[in-house]
Amino acid sequence: MDEQTLQEVARRLHVAWKTTVLTGAGLSAASGVPTFRGEEGLWRTHRPEDLASVDGFRRDPHTVWEWTLERKRLIAECAPNRAHEVLADWSRRLPGFTVLTQNVDGLHDRAGTISVLELHGSIWEVGCALQCVDSPRRWRDERLEYPQTPPTCFYCGALLRPGEVLFGEQLPLDSALRAAQATQRCDVMLVIGTTAVVEPAASFIEMAKSPSTLVVEINPEPSQKAAWLMDVVLKAPAVQVLDRLEEELRRLEELASTSEDA
Ligand code: OAD
Repeated sequence: MDEQTLQEVARRLHVAWKTTVLTGAGLSAASGVPTFRGEEGLWRTHRPEDLASVDGFRRDPHTVWEWTLERKRLIAECAPNRAHEVLADWSRRLPGFTVLTQNVDGLHDRAGTISVLELHGSIWEVGCALQCVDSPRRWRDERLEYPQTPPTCFYCGALLRPGEVLFGEQLPLDSALRAAQATQRCDVMLVIGTTAVVEPAASFIEMAKSPSTLVVEINPEPSQKAAWLMDVVLKAPAVQVLDRLEEELRRLEELASTSEDA
């Protein structure tokens, strides 16, 4: 990781009025949540079309639920890491700060981040598979097992579905709109721990791109697909980079407050 680049990113964060962060599975890797792609990624050994797609759920809801519950149990044992904590702190300290996450693990929320938008939904929510009129679109359900799998809707008795966005589904319109709003005219966009291959993640980076925006990728193996969108790359694990950025930002804040006092 280049120290001069890191200092420049911290300086831009310090003066930014609007900062947007796009996070992916790599952010939670240090917490023990497996990523999807890469050498040890889930999609190496599991088929997304069977486990995380609309057709897969229609064909075999039992298997989709077994997999969802297995991940819920694993995530329940994980805790937010230092990178989640730094972002949570910035969400309360920096102006116009939004986190757009593709992660469904809820770790941003558990770290205390305000203004986080879960683009792919949450593993801690469920919905009625038939979207019955009596039920909300999604509701919180932290159970790690059910009396029967697949579980059924409390309101109408149809099947429950996991709260995650499945392949073959659009993002809910309100999430997409709020994410677009957050990315437009931001001063800094941090893209952390994502291959940026699943849309609309890459489109949000493209939307943020402007001559006055600094787009920063933080990843030990930077994205090839979205490489052209990045202004600078900090090639290291998220925990290491965010910890250093926070240190540098604190230093700049202290300098600014002592020069105000003088
Ligand atoms: P991926 O598994 O595609 O990518 C994980 C990224 O994290 C890779 O670029 C790694 O290099 C990087 N990485 C690994 N360890 C890291 C660390 N310690 N610090 C920083 N980066 C690290 O995950 P996503 O891009 O999030 O969608 O995947 C996007 C979507 O595809 C997911 O939300 C999920 C999946 O299918 C749905 O389920 C709808």
